[in-house]
Amino acid sequence: MLLSYLRERLRLTGTKYGCGGGGCGACTVMVSRYQPSTKTILHYSANACLLPVCQLQGAAVTTVEGIGNTKTRVHPVQERIAKAHGSQCGFCTPGMVMSMYTLLRNKPQPNMEDITEALGGNLCRCTGYRPIVDGCKTFSQESNCCQANGNGAGCCLNGDSSPQRSENELPPQLFDQEDLLPLDPTQDLIFPPELILMAETEPQVSQLFRGDRMVWVSPVSLEELIQLKTSHPQAPLVMGNTNIGPDIKFKGAWHPIIISPTRVQELFKVTKTPQGVCIGAGCSLSVVKALLEGLVQEIPEEKTEIYRSLLQQLGNLGGQQIRNVATIGGNIVSAYPNSDLNPVFAAGNCILNVASKSEQEILLNKDFFVGFGKTSLKPDEVVLSVFIPVSRQGEFMRAFRQAPRKENALATVTTGMRVMFTEGSSVVKELSIYYGGVGPCTVSATKTCAAVIGRKWDEQTLSEAYTQLLDEISLSPSHPGGQVEFRRSLTLSLLFKFNLQMLHKLWEMVWTGSLFAQLVAYLHLKNLHHYTGTFLKYQSGDDPVGRPIMHRSAISQATGEAVYCDDIPKMEGELHLVLVTSTRPHAKILDIDISEALQVPGVVDVITSKDIPGKKFRTFMYVAVPQVSCVGHMVCAVVADTRNQAKRGAAVVKIGYEDLPGPVFTVEEAIEKQSFFLPKRMIEQGNVDEAFDKVDHIYEGAIRLGGQEHFYMETQSMVVVPSGEERELKVYLSCQHPTYAQESIAETLGIPSNRVSCHVKRVGGAFGGKVTKTSIIACITSVAAWKTGRAVRCVLERGEDMLITGARHPVLGKHKVGFMNNGRIMAADLHYYANSGNTADESLLVIEKILLHLDNAYNVPNLRGRSVACKTNLPSNTAFRGFGVPQSMLVTENMINDVAMMLGCNAEEVRGKINMYKEVSLTHYKFEFDPKNLLRCWDECKEKSDYDRRRKSIGQFNQQNRWKKRGMATIPIKFDIFCVCVSVRQAASLVHIYKDGSVLVSHGGTEMGQGIHTKMQQVGIVFSHLKQEGQPYAYYTYGACCSEVEVDCLTGDYRTVRTDIVMDIGRSINPSVDIGQIEGAFIQGLGLYTMEELKFSPSGVLYTRGPSQYKIPAVCDIPLQFNVYLLSGSDNPHAIYSSKGIGEPVLFLGSSVFFAIKDAVAASRVEAGMVGPFTLDSPATPERTCLACNTPFTQKIPASKQGSFQPWALNIP
Ligand SMILES: Cc1cc2nc3c(=O)[nH]c(=O)nc-3n(C[C@H](O)[C@H](O)[C@H](O)COP(=O)(O)OP(=O)(O)OC[C@H]3O[C@@H](n4cnc5c(N)ncnc54)[C@H](O)[C@@H]3O)c2cc1C
Ligand code: FES
Ligand code: FES
Repeated sequence: MLLSYLRERLRLTGTKYGCGGGGCGACTVMVSRYQPSTKTILHYSANACLLPVCQLQGAAVTTVEGIGNTKTRVHPVQERIAKAHGSQCGFCTPGMVMSMYTLLRNKPQPNMEDITEALGGNLCRCTGYRPIVDGCKTFSQESNCCQANGNGAGCCLNGDSSPQRSENELPPQLFDQEDLLPLDPTQDLIFPPELILMAETEPQVSQLFRGDRMVWVSPVSLEELIQLKTSHPQAPLVMGNTNIGPDIKFKGAWHPIIISPTRVQELFKVTKTPQGVCIGAGCSLSVVKALLEGLVQEIPEEKTEIYRSLLQQLGNLGGQQIRNVATIGGNIVSAYPNSDLNPVFAAGNCILNVASKSEQEILLNKDFFVGFGKTSLKPDEVVLSVFIPVSRQGEFMRAFRQAPRKENALATVTTGMRVMFTEGSSVVKELSIYYGGVGPCTVSATKTCAAVIGRKWDEQTLSEAYTQLLDEISLSPSHPGGQVEFRRSLTLSLLFKFNLQMLHKLWEMVWTGSLFAQLVAYLHLKNLHHYTGTFLKYQSGDDPVGRPIMHRSAISQATGEAVYCDDIPKMEGELHLVLVTSTRPHAKILDIDISEALQVPGVVDVITSKDIPGKKFRTFMYVAVPQVSCVGHMVCAVVADTRNQAKRGAAVVKIGYEDLPGPVFTVEEAIEKQSFFLPKRMIEQGNVDEAFDKVDHIYEGAIRLGGQEHFYMETQSMVVVPSGEERELKVYLSCQHPTYAQESIAETLGIPSNRVSCHVKRVGGAFGGKVTKTSIIACITSVAAWKTGRAVRCVLERGEDMLITGARHPVLGKHKVGFMNNGRIMAADLHYYANSGNTADESLLVIEKILLHLDNAYNVPNLRGRSVACKTNLPSNTAFRGFGVPQSMLVTENMINDVAMMLGCNAEEVRGKINMYKEVSLTHYKFEFDPKNLLRCWDECKEKSDYDRRRKSIGQFNQQNRWKKRGMATIPIKFDIFCVCVSVRQAASLVHIYKDGSVLVSHGGTEMGQGIHTKMQQVGIVFSHLKQEGQPYAYYTYGACCSEVEVDCLTGDYRTVRTDIVMDIGRSINPSVDIGQIEGAFIQGLGLYTMEELKFSPSGVLYTRGPSQYKIPAVCDIPLQFNVYLLSGSDNPHAIYSSKGIGEPVLFLGSSVFFAIKDAVAASRVEAGMVGPFTLDSPATPERTCLACNTPFTQKIPASKQGSFQPWALNIP
C-alpha cells in the first residue's frame, strides 16, 4: 500500500498510520490525475493505507511534506490549523491538513458545509475538532455568524448572543486572524508536465506486476478485462480497494491474482437519456454524487426522486477519502448486508449492465442479493454500468439510515422505499421496500408491499403493514451484530417516517405541515459552532503567561516534520516484533510449537517467557506460560526482518490449550464467584443506616457504564536499541511514564536502571493508556533486543492495540438514596463494581479514586461508598483520563436524577439549590474546602446558558412535537487535583542554561498534546516569579456544564444543540491550551457517555477492534453551539501561577449530554403514559435511547426470552 511505501521506502513519515483500514484519515494524501478527454486535472483526497501503489500509474501524489515545511515555506493550511490551536498531540494533524488542502485545491473559497464534509473522514482524539474547524474556517468567505438555532433566537445576527463583557476582559480571540499567510494558489505545486505529456502521447498498455505471493494485472481495454476475468474468474477486480483491501489486511484473505481495471475507459462512461442516467461501474462515489447533484439541478424535480434518495445516502456514506475512491460497481458487488446504496438501487428498479462473453441486463432486485457478500453474478461477470431511471408522475422515493454515528459509520439499518400512486388518487400502484442491516444481505419486504398494493395509503393500511412487516422481517435474537430489538423497531419507525412524508405528498394542499416541517428542520441543522472565552488583563504586554500562545510544536506537527516514535529511521539490522496472543479466555497452555514460524522467511526468533533473564513479575501477567486468562493475553512474540514476515510467523505459531472451566466476564459473574482483586474499599460518613429510618422516601436504582477505548491516534510504539557497550539499552517509546518503563525493563533484564535510558520526544495521544501497558510491551521488546543483540521495533496495529491493551473500567453502580419531600438527600449508600479484567493493573487505585469522588458537588450528611475491583477473563483495564471519576460521578448524578424523577421536580433544583455544597465544608474524607467557586461556576453556567428561558421553550417544543423531544441538563463538577499515589506525585527536572542563553530542560513529564513544553516556556521566561510555597496540588478544579439535545425518538438519533461550560481553572497560563483541553475532554466524555461501545463475544473476544466498529466522536458530533467560559477572578495558591489542572476534570461534563438525552427520553415516555425513574445505561447510544423512548414501534417488538438464546455480545460490565 502507498502508506508503507511512503513511510518505509521513501522515509516520508508525515503521513501517519492510525488504523490501516480507511477509518481515521491519519494517512490522507492528495492524488492528482490528468484527464486527457477534458484536459483537466482532478485532485482528490485518499487514504494511503488502502491505496495500492500499483494503481498509481500516471498519478501525482502530494503528501504533507510536499505542501510546505519550516525550512522553506509553511503552507497557509498548515499555519492556520496550527495557529488556531488545532494541533495538540499532532498525530492527526497531517491528515487534517491534507484533507483541507485538497479541498482548497478544488475550491479555494469553501463554505462551511464543504469544510465539515472534507474533514468528515478524519478523526482527532485530542482537540474536540472546534479549533481545527476554526482554523479551516478562515478560508471561508461565509459570515462568521454563529448560526445558532438556525438563525433563530439566540443567534448573533439577532443581536442575541454576545454576552456582556466586563471591562477587564479581553475580546475572545484565541488567535489573531490578521497576520495569517494568504492563500495563494500560484504557490501550489504544479501537476508534473511529464505526466500530462505521458497521458497525451503515450499509448496505454496493460501492466503486470509480479510479487512473491501474487500477480497484479492492470488491463486497459474491456476486451482484455473480459478475457482476464474469463481465464481467472476467482480473481477480484480491485477498484477502490475499500472492500478487498480491508479483507486482505484484517480477515487474512489472499488472492494469487488481482485484476485492476481502473484504466478501462468503458467502466467510467456516463450516458444521460430522458429515461435516466447510466453510470459506469468504475465511477467513484464522489463522482456519482457530483453527477446526481448536477442532474437534480438540471431536470424537473418530480423526475429526481431516486436521485435525491441516493444523494441522501451518499452524503453520509463513509468519509470523503472513501467516497473519492470507492466505486459504485464495487459497492453493489460487495453486497454488504448494510450497504446504503443497494436498498435504494433495488427499490428504485435500477438495472445493471453486465458483461462476460456476452452482455446482459440484470434487474437489481431481491434475486440479485443471495447472501452475505454474495450476488447472483457469475464469477466471470463484470459490471459495466448501472442504469438509474428518472422517477415517474406519482412516484415517490425516500431513503433513511440510522448509524452509530451520524457520518462515516456503516448503518445499523438503512432503507430505500418507493411508492407509486394511481393517478389522481391515494391508491398504491407499486410499492417497493428494501432494507439493509436486517439480514445477511439487502432484503426486500415483498409481502408487506404486496399487502399494501391496490389499497389506499391511509392509517388503516399502514397499521396493517407494520404488523405484516414485523412478521416478515424477523431476526434471530443471536443475530450477528446484535441490537435485534432496535433493528426490528427501526424497520417499523423508518416506514413510519416514509408514511409521514408520503402523507404530506398526498395531501400537500390540505396538510398543516407541522410534522413534516419538524423533520426537515432536523435534517438541515447546520454544523456550526462558536466559543466565547474570557481572559484577564493582569499583566504587562510582554509577559507570556496567560496568553493564548500556540503549541510550540504545532507548526512542525502540521508540516509532518514532528518526529513520533515510529518516524525514527530504521536502524542497521533492525528487527520487527509481533505479539502472539491467546485465543482462549481461560486456559492452560499445553505447548507452544514455534517450528513452522521459524521456517517463515525473515523470521529470526520467537521470544517466550523462558527468555526473560531477570524478574518476570513486570511481565508475568502477560508472558504467561503456562496459563492464559483472557483473549488477547500475550503468549510469545515473533521477531523478523520485516513486519510482514513477523506477522506471517506469528500467524503460524501453534499454541495447544486446555480450556479451564468457568471463565468470568461480567461483574455479576464475578460477584457470584467472588472473583475480586482485594482489598475491597469502603468509606462512610455519618450514620447511613440510621438516616434511612428518618427520611420521607427511599429509592434504589442502578446504572451500568461501559468501558472506553483510549483510541490514542498513535498506537503503542517503541524501538529498543542495544548500545553494544556495558549492557546498555536505549529505548525510544511513546509512553506517559518513562521512569516506570525504565524500572520495568531493568528488572526484567536483571540489569541496573542506569543501563536503560528511555527517550520520549512526544506522544501521539495517551489518555492513561500509555502508562503500564506500554511498559509491559517495552519489556518484551527489550527481551527480544537483548536476546538477538539487534534493535527491535514494535508498533502495534490498531486491532492488536485495542485487543491487548485494555480500556477504561466498565462499572456497575448501585445506589440506595434516602431523601426528603423537598429533594434534600439525607443518606446515600453506593456500591461500585469495576470490571478490572484479568490483572489488577491500577484497578485498586481506580476504585479508591471512585470512592473519593462519589460526593461530586453535593453535601450528603450520611454517605457510604463501597467499591470492588472484579477479576474477570477480559483484557486488563487500566488508567483512563479521569481515573475512575467519570464512572463514580455518573452513578452519583444518576442517583440525583432519580430523586428528581421520583418527586417529579426539576433535576437542576435538586442539584444546585437543594443539595450542593454551600459553605466551607468537609468532604467525606475530611478535606476542608470552600465551594465558593463551585457555586459561581454553577450560577454563571445557568446564566450564560440562559437556562430558565430555554427550559421553558424546551417544554413548549416537547408539547408541540410527538416524535422529536428536546432535553437539557446542567451538571457540576468538583474534581480533586491530587493524586492519591505518592510515587506519582513527585517530579524532578534538570535545567541546563548554556552560555548563549539557550536553555535545555530535562524532566519526567511527557508531551502528549497537553502543551507541557509550551506552558513551560511561558513560565520559564519569567522564572523568578515562580511561587515555591503552599501545598502543591491539594485543591479542586470546579466547573459546570449545560447541554441541550434534540432526540429523534423514532431512531434514537440525537444532536447536541448547545453546550455551555464554565470552568474555574484559576489563572490560566495559556487559555488556548486550556480551552483546547476543556473542549477535547468534553468531546471525549460525550463519546464515553453517548457513543463509544466496546463489544465482546460470549466467549470474551473483543469484536470492536478498529474505527469501523468502535465509534469515537467525529466532526459531526460537536455541539452546534459550543461556548466555553473561564471563570474570572479565580486564584489558586497551590499551583504555578495560580493555575489549575484541567486535563482530566472536564471529561465528566460530557455526561451533561447523557442527562440531557435522558431528559428528552423522559418527555417521550410521558406521552406513553410512563412517569418516574427509569434506567438508561451508558453510553446512551441511539439503540438504548430509542428503546427507552418507548414509542408505539418499540412497544410492538416482542422481547426475546432471557436464557432462551445466546446473545451476540456480552452485556459488560
Ligand atoms: C472506512 C469505510 C467506511 C465505509 N462506509 C460505508 C457506508 O457508510 N455505507 C456503505 O454502503 N458502504 C460503506 N463502505 C463500503 C464501501 O462503500 C465499499 O467498500 C465500496 O463501495 C466498494 O467499492 P470499491 O471500488 O472500493 O471495491 P473494491 O474493494 O475494489 O472491490 C470490491 C468487490 O467488488 C468487486 N467489483 C468491483 N468492481 C466490479 C465490477 N465492475 N464488476 C464486478 N465486480 C466488481 C470486486 O471483485 C470485489 O470483490 C465503507 C468502507 C470503508 C473502508
Ligand atoms: S490509517 Fe489510513 S485511514 Fe486510518
Ligand atoms: S491532535 Fe488530533 S489526535 Fe491528537
